[in-house]
Amino acid sequence: MDSSKYKMWLQYEICTVEQVNVQYQSLLRNVVIKGNDPIIFSAKDELQRAVKGMLDHELSWTENVQEANFVIGNINEVADFLKEEQRQLLTDLTEEGYIVQTSNQKTYIVGNTDKGVLYGVHHFIRLMQINSDLSQLQIVEQPKNQFRMINQWDNLDGTVERGYSGQSIFYQNGKIVKDKKRIRDYARYLSSVGINAISINNVNVWEEETYFITNKYLAEIKAIADIFSAYAIRLYLSINFASPMAIDGLSTADPLNKEVKQWWKEKVAEIYEYIPDFGGFVVKADSEHRPGPFTYNRDHADGANMLAEALEPYDGKVVWRCFVYNCLQDWRDRATDRARAAYDHFKPLDGRFHENVLLQIKNGPMDFQVREPVSPLLGAMPQTNQLVEFQVAQEYTGQQIDLCYLIPQWKQVLDFDTHIKGTGSTISEIVAGNIHAYKYSGIAAVSNIGDDENWTGHTLAQANLYGYGRLIWDPSLSSQEIAEEWISQTFGNQKEVVEKIGSMLLSSWTIYENYTAPLGVGWMVTPGIHYGPNIDGYEYSRWGTYHFADREGIGVDRTIETGTGYTDQYEEPNRSIYNILSECPDELLLFFHHVPYKYTLKNGETVIQHIYNTHFKGYEQVEDLMDSWNSLESLMDNDRFKNVQDRFRRQKINAKEWRDQINSYFYRKSGIADQYNRTIY
Ligand code: GCU
Repeated sequence: MDSSKYKMWLQYEICTVEQVNVQYQSLLRNVVIKGNDPIIFSAKDELQRAVKGMLDHELSWTENVQEANFVIGNINEVADFLKEEQRQLLTDLTEEGYIVQTSNQKTYIVGNTDKGVLYGVHHFIRLMQINSDLSQLQIVEQPKNQFRMINQWDNLDGTVERGYSGQSIFYQNGKIVKDKKRIRDYARYLSSVGINAISINNVNVWEEETYFITNKYLAEIKAIADIFSAYAIRLYLSINFASPMAIDGLSTADPLNKEVKQWWKEKVAEIYEYIPDFGGFVVKADSEHRPGPFTYNRDHADGANMLAEALEPYDGKVVWRCFVYNCLQDWRDRATDRARAAYDHFKPLDGRFHENVLLQIKNGPMDFQVREPVSPLLGAMPQTNQLVEFQVAQEYTGQQIDLCYLIPQWKQVLDFDTHIKGTGSTISEIVAGNIHAYKYSGIAAVSNIGDDENWTGHTLAQANLYGYGRLIWDPSLSSQEIAEEWISQTFGNQKEVVEKIGSMLLSSWTIYENYTAPLGVGWMVTPGIHYGPNIDGYEYSRWGTYHFADREGIGVDRTIETGTGYTDQYEEPNRSIYNILSECPDELLLFFHHVPYKYTLKNGETVIQHIYNTHFKGYEQVEDLMDSWNSLESLMDNDRFKNVQDRFRRQKINAKEWRDQINSYFYRKSGIADQYNRTIY
């Protein structure tokens, strides 16, 4: 497993630019690294690997800071060797902050803690990989977000829910894997982009996974926790809300029941005996057939607080998911609009949650569609810690067969101004804890990796994992900057490669949207599988469709006056922008309004003509992506080239199917012909 596809963005290829190579050799002559924490050993190991790979030389270490020309350590270890201004810079940063600076001909990587040291070393390596000039460094860095989490949806049987890259790297055939090398490498990749928390099992906790919090599994889970700890990543477990019943036969899981509360306290104490730096629980309750407090006529604050009380003495957290809706509701009944559910359930509970509870809220009100408005619950609970949840796994965005670089989508979410506390109340500032006084907040996302040799199935889907980490560390980075960094680190610095792959990545979300569900309507996918078109496919029942299309028009009326009233969950001016048909942005039109096929969009096209145009265009754009990729054949290894080439072949088949099914469905429904007379199959 030492192939280039396995190494993702930590390639460490020999640096062939003579001048750069010489500079790096000279900077890294005599290196000292202070400290004895496993995190420091990780930093040391990573630097060694990088230098060996890129400069083909073994680092020469010294113990003596005076003699060294490269100094690494936390502030307590190396304070005496820093200038007053450097110390001051560090004092102003959080515990994960660091400086990478050149001073008196020496290079310093100094963190406020060992975590900062590790991040500083990764930063330095990244600069080496992109061949930066490192002679005059003045870097001062800290992450914008406190929680930077990844959620594995891995099951003990080795499957991964919504996994598109093989089986789990954590579990195989009902057991935790013995050989943990891949887990360690995963920890390296995650820490290199700043991830600091991971939950290692599916949010849907099935029977056997319920026992993860018992002594049957805790020793092995501790071994995994230790691997992640050495990379400054805290381990969390998803739990089954009904555990007291399932594990110890209690007659109830009622969160207000004394015995149940006591059970959780003892359970948590046991977990911390094994794993002293255990992060806490991730909970999916009362959703898609999972148990929860509703069974006992309790609400979600009752449920979360019971767990929070048990975790509080250990500084543990409850990450409570807000993906709560009645999946069996009659979709035709507009009063039970699924989009309303999270806000309706949780907003009234503001102020009731303990300090160590964080609500995890999907970025949109539905479910990771290619286009959705931002969830109105984000920011709407000033007294409740919040995390926004993204999905790096491409469940509805091509399943790592189709190319879809998601950073532009997430940036749009982060840049969205909720106006909750006036202009500038963006999601980015909210989850950074700058709008409301959150004690804890940040970002979580569903991972996209599995045991495929290249981790992500589609090699270019590695960019989403990389980009997720980089973006949530520093949301001011542009999608292009992130793409270019990733390409250089992954495929090298050749201009043509960086430019071509860069423009492929940056256009891919729009292309995917073009040939799939139009104008924010979402879904229209094969039920259950969520890949490929099924225009009327509705997941949970025989009732209705997601798009409400009939002979006259299409779209869901979510207005206050005649629709589900969902628009009322937004603050002004967003409420009016979405509620008033003429104000609503084209890309979300059908999410908010039901309109005739001949309704004219702001871009001048009618809705029906827009559907035809984008679907013909989307397919052609996939052909262009293929051509672009094919032109890169001689500039990279065959292995990765072929992997992506094969994915494009499959994407083309998918795009054609979408184009033809969507166009012919709406042609038949509306009876309106394409104004350019293209063939509709
Ligand atoms: C989606 C997805 C499920 C998942 C759920 C969740 O509905 O299809 O597989 O369990 O989201 O986020 O909990």
